[in-house]
Order: sequence, then structure tokens, then C-alpha cells
Amino acid sequence: MTIKTINLGATALLRTSALIALAIAPPALGQSAPAPAPAPASPGPLTIQADKPGAVINRDIFGQFAEHLGLGIYDGVWVGKDSRIPNVRGIRSDVVGALKAIKVPVVRWPGGCFADEYHWRDGIGPADKRRTTVNTNWGMSVEPNTFGTDEFMDFASQIGAEAYISVNVGSGTVKEANDWVEYMTAAAPATAAAERAANGHPAPYKVKYLGLGNESWGCGGPFTADEYVTNMKPFAHFVHNQNPAQADPAIDFTKLINDLMTGKGMDALPRNPNGMMRVAVGPNSLDGSYTDAVMKAWKTRSPIDWSIEGLSLHHYTYGGLPMSEPATGFGEKQYFTMLKQTLGMESNIAMHSAIMDKYDPKKTVGLMVDEWGVWLKATPGTEPLHLRQQNSLRDGIAASLNLNIFARHADRVRMTNIAQMVNVLQSMIITDGEKMVLTPTYQVYKMYVPFQDATFLPITFNSGEYRLGTASLPKVDAIAAKDKDGKVWLALTNLDGNNAADISASAAGVTAKSAIGEVLTADRVDSINTFDTPNAVAPKPFSAKAANGSLVLHLPPHSVTVVRLDK
Ligand code: AHR
Repeated sequence: MTIKTINLGATALLRTSALIALAIAPPALGQSAPAPAPAPASPGPLTIQADKPGAVINRDIFGQFAEHLGLGIYDGVWVGKDSRIPNVRGIRSDVVGALKAIKVPVVRWPGGCFADEYHWRDGIGPADKRRTTVNTNWGMSVEPNTFGTDEFMDFASQIGAEAYISVNVGSGTVKEANDWVEYMTAAAPATAAAERAANGHPAPYKVKYLGLGNESWGCGGPFTADEYVTNMKPFAHFVHNQNPAQADPAIDFTKLINDLMTGKGMDALPRNPNGMMRVAVGPNSLDGSYTDAVMKAWKTRSPIDWSIEGLSLHHYTYGGLPMSEPATGFGEKQYFTMLKQTLGMESNIAMHSAIMDKYDPKKTVGLMVDEWGVWLKATPGTEPLHLRQQNSLRDGIAASLNLNIFARHADRVRMTNIAQMVNVLQSMIITDGEKMVLTPTYQVYKMYVPFQDATFLPITFNSGEYRLGTASLPKVDAIAAKDKDGKVWLALTNLDGNNAADISASAAGVTAKSAIGEVLTADRVDSINTFDTPNAVAPKPFSAKAANGSLVLHLPPHSVTVVRLDK
């Protein structure tokens, strides 16, 4: 299906404050007078502290985001039941097959900015009776509503992912949101369950996460942090998951009062471990106002009134001015700048985590980075508001750096959703009609599958330096983890655009004789996969042997390597 566009809607993009906040010139690189400097430091020996396990790297950290935007849903996921493109109930089979291979744990839908103008009833029932609307945020594309709740749940089930539903807080009502969750989760004899059954799905769906609005400081608002808290609380209180497996246990008031009187407080409130997790709107990149206001309200809430289980963070990497960074044909300076900005995710998460720690030292509320990725110039010749961009090896490297940062913060970061899954921004997959190609970012996600639900293992090493002019970045970034079978995995990114890195690695308490895995690299950092050359950037086998008790790993320039340590 092709999306028709009407030439309106650019103001909606300007309302997307994530863009505005990051419209900051990138740091100047290599502009100061050259000073004599010693040769860049080489990476030093790496030790995996296998005897000091950290937090579990929640598999939902490898989550995805699929918005009604450009060709993200229509063409990218949904082709319709009568399409000549092979499909199951309208959902394209090639995309499903590719996503299954990276074990997508969770998908956020329907937006994004789209969510705060989405009315779920437009997207249920017989396809020919659904309302046609216009996507006011994204190029005024015609929205046929053919892909609605039941189609999304079918898609999530086909790829084996959990559902993360963003309800409309901006222009919807609490009742509308509750009716939607009731439609998805109620069991017979509820009327909502009968309606869902009539639409083909008698059994209640599972909704693992519920987003309470999106960017309420931007396209989903505009609300100050305090105004958002006031708006959000009734959604957190009144929107109920009725799926018997997910409903919260009834509150035992006698126990609660006793707990409160004996100082255990609201933390003692029982919670169904399978209960739906509510995610409040949180910060726009470095702005801490939402973090503080939402967490303060959470801390001072009455336990029987409302709660949240997650706080959202949106943080994109833009390179130059928003949407000016070319996706290909860039030089080393631009490569370096993009990686430098990407590494800014670390301090950003640390900053918001510190605010959260003030109110929630036990880390009960998760930080959910539910929009992140590189946001580049749109592919020439495409509608700019469809955010269709190419995806190079540089983007794969940026993805690995972000995933490493999330893993290092796994005690607080419980879910992330890269923007976006297909055909939009830093996507896994690009399609054009019946053609499909997997991006370097996809390849990184595939290589990182062993880290899903693995236990983080700290590492110590000197990362070395990748220098450009007088600026420098760490040369090598790495994480390690132990999977459920006790196998130790190591992911290493060599950021250096020119030079290989030789690094020796060992793990305390583990005698590794060899390491086996894959490496992702290409001759140029702007290499891409195309429909004609789909494997230009594809993982190749990688192995290393131990010498004198340490593994010797040879990491090519601008590469991502993932290995399993073998005894
Ligand atoms: O991912 C694209 C857009 O970026 C989302 O719709 C919005 O939430 C963010 O600003």
C-alpha cells in the first residue's frame, strides 16, 4: 500500500521538542592550535570480573518502536491480505522472519507523536468500515486505520514480542484509554471481550507496558512537568488491565495499614510480577524537570491511589543540526562527531538516574529509553516528514555503543525502544515494495541476542584513545555478561576509524582457551546494505585463541565484535 501525502504538517515536526532541544551545534573538533601530544594510548589488558556479577540485562533493553509514520507500518509491516507480497493476515512474512531472528522482545506502538492524536476505535472492526483520517504529525499522510489494535497484536504475536501500548493522554480521555485497555484485556462475559471476540480474538491480549502519553513537553502537550503530573495521575489510577494473568492483586488493607504503621510504607504494597507496567512521560534528553516532578509525585503518592513502574527518556543523536547529517558520504570528522554525541547517552542516563535515586534509591521505577537512535537527513527524493534514512556501518557502531551504555546501567534501565523498527530513522529493515534489506543496525541487534537477559559482568581495562586532531574518544568500548547457561560473552567496539586494536582479555575465575563469534565491519564507515548488495555490511566469523592465559583479540578498525568465551 502506498501512503498518499498532502503538503501540510511541517509545524507538527517543529512541535517535536526532542528536535528543538538538540538543535545545538556539535562540539568543534580539531579547531584549537595543534599541541605536541604523545601518541594515542593503546587499549590495555581487559579483565572480565566474572566473580562480581551485576544486574540482569533485561531483554526489553533490545526493544523496538513502530509508529504510524511514513512507511513504518504501511509497506514496512502491513501490506494487506490481498498483496502479492507474501503475508500472513496482511503482515509481510519477510519482515516477520527477519524480526524473529533478532528475538525482538517488545514493540512500542502506535507512537510517538501519533499516539496523542490516535483514537483506537478508528482502528478496530471490519476494515471497510474504519475511518480514514490524516496523520497530522507526519506529513499529513492519509491514515486508513487498516492496521489497528488487532493487527498490531497479531504482528507482535507473529514476531514473538510483547506489546507496549502508548495511550492518548494529549487529546484523549481517561475513559477512552481505559476502554482501550479493557478491549484488549477483558475476559468474557465483559461486553468488551465479546467485541474483541467478534473481531477475531476471543482470548485477552497481554499488554506488558502502557505508556501514559508521549513527549507531553512537545508534540504530546504542551504541558509543564507539573501539569503533566496532574494529567497523568488519573490515567495511572483508572486505566486497568483486566487480563486475569496481569491484573494487580487486590490490596490487603489490613496488611497495608499495618505495614504503614510499622514503617514499611508504601514499598510493601504487593504487586503482581506479571502486572502491566505503566510508563510515565519523562525527560527530553538533558532536561531534568520531568524526571524530578514525576519522581517526586511518585515518592509522595498514596500507595492506593496510583503508581508507575517506569519513566520514559527520549534522546536522539543528530550529528549536526537536526536532520542535516548525511546518512552516507560523510568524512571522518562527521563520523567522530556522531560517535562523540552517541557516547553522551552515558552522562544523560547517569544524570536522570541520579535524580531518580533521590526519590527511589531502591530503583523500583525503571528508566525506559523508549526513543533513541541516530536521526539523519532524509533520503533524497523522499518526503522529509517520513523520516526515511539510510543506515550505514557508522549507525551499527552507534547502536552497539548505546546498547553497551544501557547494559552498564541495567540496574535502572529496564527497557529501551530504538526509533524505529522499519523504514523510519535508525531502522532494522528497509523495504521498497516487495524488496527488503537488513541494515547494519539490524546486524548488531542480531549479534547482541546472547546479551538478552544475561547477567552483566563488570570489566576493567584501559580503553585506549581514538584521536582526531586534538579531540579524543575511547578507542575500544566493551561489555561482558554471563548467559543463563553460564557462558560468558564479550562485545567489543573498536571506534577507531583508521586503526585496528589488539587487546588481550581474560576473565577472573574462568579459564578461556578460545573465543568464537562474529565481527561486523566494512572497508568504509559509510558502507550500507542495498537491495542489490544486501551483504555489504554483514557479520563474518571471528575467533581468537589464548596465549599466556589471555585471549588475544584483533579488532579491525570501525568494527563491532561479539564473542563467547570457551574453556
Ligand atoms: O520517532 C519520531 C518522533 O520523535 C516521535 O514521534 C516523537 O515522539 C519523537 O519526537
